[in-house]
Amino acid sequence: MKVQINGFTMAYTDAGAGLPIVFVHGFPLNRRMWEPQVSGLANGVRTLAPDLRGHGDSPPLPGPYEMDMLASDLNDFLDALEIDEKVVLCGLSMGGYVVFAFYRQYAHRVRSLILTATRAAADTAQGKSARDAMVQRVQSAGIEPIVDEMAPKLLAPGNAAHRPELVNQAKEIMLGTTPEGMIGALKGMKSRPDSTPTLSKIETPTLVVHGAEDQIIPLQEARGMAEAITGARLEIISNAGHLLNLEQPERFNLVVSEFLESV
Ligand code: MLT
Repeated sequence: MKVQINGFTMAYTDAGAGLPIVFVHGFPLNRRMWEPQVSGLANGVRTLAPDLRGHGDSPPLPGPYEMDMLASDLNDFLDALEIDEKVVLCGLSMGGYVVFAFYRQYAHRVRSLILTATRAAADTAQGKSARDAMVQRVQSAGIEPIVDEMAPKLLAPGNAAHRPELVNQAKEIMLGTTPEGMIGALKGMKSRPDSTPTLSKIETPTLVVHGAEDQIIPLQEARGMAEAITGARLEIISNAGHLLNLEQPERFNLVVSEFLESV
C-alpha cells in the first residue's frame, strides 16, 4: 500500500484489525523484516509497517534523514491513515532511535513502547568515524559489499553459521536499499542526539526486548535502558542476535503478545 505524506509517497503494510502497532524497521532494512509479525500477530491487532524514506519501496529522497524527520514522517503517516487512537510503537535498532524521537515530540499518540535491539546513547566519536567511512564506501563501491559483510553480523553467530536461508533473507531485504537511502540514514544516525535523558521521562508501559547474542548492539545497552525506564519489562531472547524477530519469530511474537495483554 502507498500513502502520500510529507512530500513523498510512503510504502507500508497494513494488516489485521484492532489495536494498532506500528513496526519501525532498522538500517538498512525495510518493512519486509516484519513479515513474521504481520502474519503472526494479526489476531486482535492491526500491524502497520512503513518503509522509512530511502528504504524499501519508499523513495530515496536526499538526506540526511534526521531521526526527528523520520518521526515526523511517522506522525504524518498516522494522520494520513486517520489513526486517532494511541498506538503501540515498536522500533528495532535505528527504528528504536526513531521511536525515541517520536516519543519526545508526539508522546500523546503513544500507548506503549517496544524497544527492540536498540540503544539510547548517541554515536561515540569512533562510531561517527565509522559512519563516515561507510558513506565513502557506499559512494565508491555501492551497497553490495556492505550488505555481504553485514548480513552475518545481524544474526547470532550460530544462526549465521547454520541458517543460510536467514543470512540470504537479511541480504535480500538490505538489497532493497539504494545508495542514496543508505547514505541518508547513515548521516541521520550519526547526528542523532543522546536519548538517555529521555528514558526517565517515559511514562508509557515499555517492553525492552533484545537478542542474547546481538553482535551489533550489546545486551548491556538493553539492561541499562530497562533499568532507567520506570516499570519497564526486559525480555532477553536466546539463540537470537540483532534480528531477533526474524531469528526467533514465535518467541518474539509471544513476548510481544504477553506484553500487550499485560498493559
Ligand atoms: C540498525 O540495525 O538499525 C543499525 O545497525 C543501527 C546502527 O547502525 O546504529
